[in-house]
Amino acid sequence: MGGLAPARLRCEYHTNPLGIDVAAPRLSWIVESDRRGARQTACQVLVASSEENLAAGKGDLWDTGKVASEETLHLAYAGKPLRSRMRCHWKVRAWDERDRPSEWSVPALWTMGLLEVSDWQAKWIGYDGPAACPHLRKAFAVERPVRRATVYATALGLYELRLNGRRVGRDRFTPGWTDYHTRCYYRTYDVTDLLRDGENVVGAILAPGWYAGHVGLVGPHVYGRTPWLLAQLEIEYADGSTETVATDKSWRAAEGPIVETDLLMGETHDARREVPGWDGPGFDAADWAPVDLKGRMDAEIGASPGVPVRVHEEMAPARMTQPKPGAWVFDFGQEFPGWVRLKVRGRAGEKVVLRFAEMLEPDGTVHTANLRSAKCTDAYVLRGGGEEVWEPRFTYRAFRYVEVTGWPGEPGPDALVGVVAHSAVPRAGAFECSNPLLNRLQENVVWTQRANFLEVPTDCPQRDERLGWTGDAQIFIRTATYNADAAAFFAKWLVDLGDAQRADGAFPDVAPLGLWHGAGTAAWGDAGTICPWTCYEVYGDVRFLERHYGGMVRWVEYLKANSRGLLRPAEGYGDWLSIQADTPKDVLATAYFALSTRLTAKAAAVLGRENDREKYEALFEDIQAAFNKAYVAGDGRIKGDTQTGYVLALQFDLLPDDLRRRAARHLVEDIKKRDTHLSTGIVGLKDLMTVLAKIGEDDVAYQLLLNDTFPSWGYEIKHGATTIWERWNGWTEEKGLHDPGMNSFCHYAFGAVGEWLFSTVAGIEAAAPGFKRIVVRPRPGGGLEWTRAQYESVHGLVASAWKVEGKGLAISVTIPANTTAEVHVPAGRAEDVTEGGRPAAEAEGVTFDRMAGGAAVFRVGSGAYEFVSR
Ligand code: BGC
Repeated sequence: MGGLAPARLRCEYHTNPLGIDVAAPRLSWIVESDRRGARQTACQVLVASSEENLAAGKGDLWDTGKVASEETLHLAYAGKPLRSRMRCHWKVRAWDERDRPSEWSVPALWTMGLLEVSDWQAKWIGYDGPAACPHLRKAFAVERPVRRATVYATALGLYELRLNGRRVGRDRFTPGWTDYHTRCYYRTYDVTDLLRDGENVVGAILAPGWYAGHVGLVGPHVYGRTPWLLAQLEIEYADGSTETVATDKSWRAAEGPIVETDLLMGETHDARREVPGWDGPGFDAADWAPVDLKGRMDAEIGASPGVPVRVHEEMAPARMTQPKPGAWVFDFGQEFPGWVRLKVRGRAGEKVVLRFAEMLEPDGTVHTANLRSAKCTDAYVLRGGGEEVWEPRFTYRAFRYVEVTGWPGEPGPDALVGVVAHSAVPRAGAFECSNPLLNRLQENVVWTQRANFLEVPTDCPQRDERLGWTGDAQIFIRTATYNADAAAFFAKWLVDLGDAQRADGAFPDVAPLGLWHGAGTAAWGDAGTICPWTCYEVYGDVRFLERHYGGMVRWVEYLKANSRGLLRPAEGYGDWLSIQADTPKDVLATAYFALSTRLTAKAAAVLGRENDREKYEALFEDIQAAFNKAYVAGDGRIKGDTQTGYVLALQFDLLPDDLRRRAARHLVEDIKKRDTHLSTGIVGLKDLMTVLAKIGEDDVAYQLLLNDTFPSWGYEIKHGATTIWERWNGWTEEKGLHDPGMNSFCHYAFGAVGEWLFSTVAGIEAAAPGFKRIVVRPRPGGGLEWTRAQYESVHGLVASAWKVEGKGLAISVTIPANTTAEVHVPAGRAEDVTEGGRPAAEAEGVTFDRMAGGAAVFRVGSGAYEFVSR
C-alpha cells in the first residue's frame, strides 16, 4: 500500500468558497491512509492564479516548498498579497513517516471577495410600497462573449436574487442575521451560466426578515422599517474588458404577489398578483416605479464567514385526519424546521390557509397556543385554472402538524410536501446502539439541533422567540460539535456575541439583539468563554481564542467587579427549569465565575500570555477558596443541597480532594432519594452525566439515561417526542399539556446528554485540540449489547464500535492518519486482550501502556483495529 492521500481541502472551513475576505485565509486538509501509524512528516502547498499554472506545478502565488510539518490544519496563507476578486487555485501533497511523497491532491479553489470599501459601486436601494416584498429589477445587455460573471449581494432584510428568471444560488434567508447596524454580510455567487446573449435581467425580491420583521420578544422594525438591497454583478468578457451592473437609481420596482411575510408570522401569497416574466428579458417594465436610495450606512460590510441556510430534504406526511368540518390535519410524524409546498387546483381567489403546530389538542385540532404571538400561518390565494404549486420564501418554523382550511374540495395525501430547511452545517457524528430508546433519543437531539441551527443557534424554532440565547448555546455546544461540523457556524455566531458584549464587559443573554435583552447573567454570559474554548478544543483552531480572548478577559473582569469577596450575587435565571430543586443562584453564579476564569487562564496559556495565565489561575484559586468558605460544609454539603450544586462543584474542580468524595456521595444520594431521577435544570444537566462518569457512577448515569418515568428523556419519548422538549413536564399524564406560556417541544438544552453518548457510551474523546490525540474509552453498561459511533473530526474519521461477547468485549476502532490514540479495553489484565486475533501487545502498531480504571490501555497510531477482551 502506498503513502498518504491528502483530501478534504478546505479554506476557512469551507470547500471551494467564493468571496473570502480574510487577509491570510487558512488552509486545511486531512491525510488519508489505511495503513497503521501513518503520519504526515512534511507537506507542500501550491497556490496558483490559474488552473493551468497549478496543473503545471507553478505556485505563482505561493509555493511553500517542502516544509517539515505534521500540521494539516489552519495553515495561514503567506504568499503574494491577496487582492479583491483574486482566484486562488491550490493543491497540497504530503510526505509520510518514511518520507514518501503523496500524489498531489485534487485541486481546490477559493476566491477573494471585495476587500476595499471602494470596491463597492453598488448603492443601497429599496422600495417603500404597500406590499411586504418589493420586486426590483434592472435590464442590461451582454454583447460580447463572457468569460465569467460574479455577483456580490447583501441586504438589510432578506433577498432572493434572480437572473434571467432563475434563482441565484441555493441559499435561503440570505444574508442571514447579524446586528445590522454593526455588521452586514454579503455572499458571492458565480453566475456565468445564468447569463445569455442580448438582453439580461437581474432581479431581487426583498423581504423584511430579521431586519424589519418580528424578532424574538421585541417586535417588528427593530433595525429598520423597510428592507434594502446592495448587489453588484461583475462581468468579465473574453476580450479582457469588464462591466459592472450594480444596484443604483436606474433600477425599477414594483409590488409582487407576496402580500405579507414575516419569519415569525408566516407568508401570504396572492397568485393573482403574480407578474409572469418580471425577472427575465422581454418584459415591459415601463410602469415600474423608480427605486428609493438609502442614505448613509455605517455598518461594516464583510464576506459571510458562516453557513447558509439551505433546503435539505423533503418529508411526506404520515397521515391525514379531519378533526372538524373543513379542517384537515396533516401529521408528518416528525417535527422539523421549514415549511410545506402545496399542490392545489381550484378557482381564482380561493384561499388555502395553513397553520403549523408541534402538538395536537385532545380533540385532534392543532395546539397553537404555545406559539404565543407567532402566528405561524401561511396562506395561498389561487390564481385559478389548473394545477398550482406553491411554497413560501421568507418564513419558517419547526412543526410536525399542519392544519389546512379553505381547501377547494378535499385535499389528497399528496396535497402537501414538507420541506426541511436549516443552516447547512455538515453532519459529523453518528451514534447507534442496541437500545431503540437511545437511538430515538439521539435522533431527537439531532432533529432539535437541525431545527435550531438556523443562522444563529436559537433556543426554539417556533414561538415568538427564536433567539440566540447564550445559555442554551453554551450548554449544547459540545453535543452540537459531536453531531455536526459547526466550526464555521459558531465562528460566525461568536462574532455576533462579541458585537453584543456590553462596554462594561457583560456578555448578553442573547445574540444578536443582545442590547435589547439582559446581560451579565451566570451560565448565559459565560458562553463568551465556553464557546470559543470548546471550538478551540474540538477544531484545534487557535483563532477562536485569538479573536475572542479580549472579550473573555473583559467578561471575567466584569464578573470580578460585580462580585463581593469573589462571590457573585444571587441573580439570573439560575438552574432554569429544574424539577423540585432550587440551586441557590449565588452558588451557581460563583461556580460559573470560577469556570470562566479558569478557561481564560487556559486560553492565556495557549496564546503564550504567561502573566495573564498566572493572574487568572490565581484568581481561579481565590474564587475556589471563597466558594468553599461560603458554600461548602465540612461534610461536603453544598449550600442548597441540589444535584446541580454538586455537579458544578465537581465538574469545575472547585473542591479539595477529601470533600470531592463526600460531595460525590451527596450527589448520588440525592439522585437515589428520587428513585434514581434527576432534578437538574438545563445548567446542571449539561455536566451531570459527565460528572457521574468521572466519579465512577456509570450505573447511575445509565439508569438516568434509560429511565422512562418522569422526569426523563425516556418519558418524553414514550409519549411520542420526536424532538427534545423545553421542559421535563411539557406534557404529563396527569396534566396533559403544560401551560402554553412557555412550553416549546423543540429546545436543545436538555439534549446536551448527546455529548455523553459519544464521549462515554461510545467513548470517543479528544485528548488534544482538534483530535490530534484521541482517547477511545467505551463504557459499556445499561444492558446495551452493542454500540456503533463515528465522528468526522478535523483530522478525519474516528470510529468506535463495541459489542458484548460473553464476559468479554469486542471493540472496533478507527483512527485517522496523522493522529494517535489511547484505546481503553475493559480487561483484568493486558494478556486478556487480543487485536486481530493475536495478543494485543504484539499486534502491529499497538503498544501496551498501562492498566487504568479496569481497562488495559493501548497506544496506537492511525488504522483500523479489532480488540477483543476475554
Ligand atoms: C428561552 C430559554 C432561555 C430562557 C432564559 C426562555 O424563554 O426559551 O431557552 O435560556 O428564556 O431564561
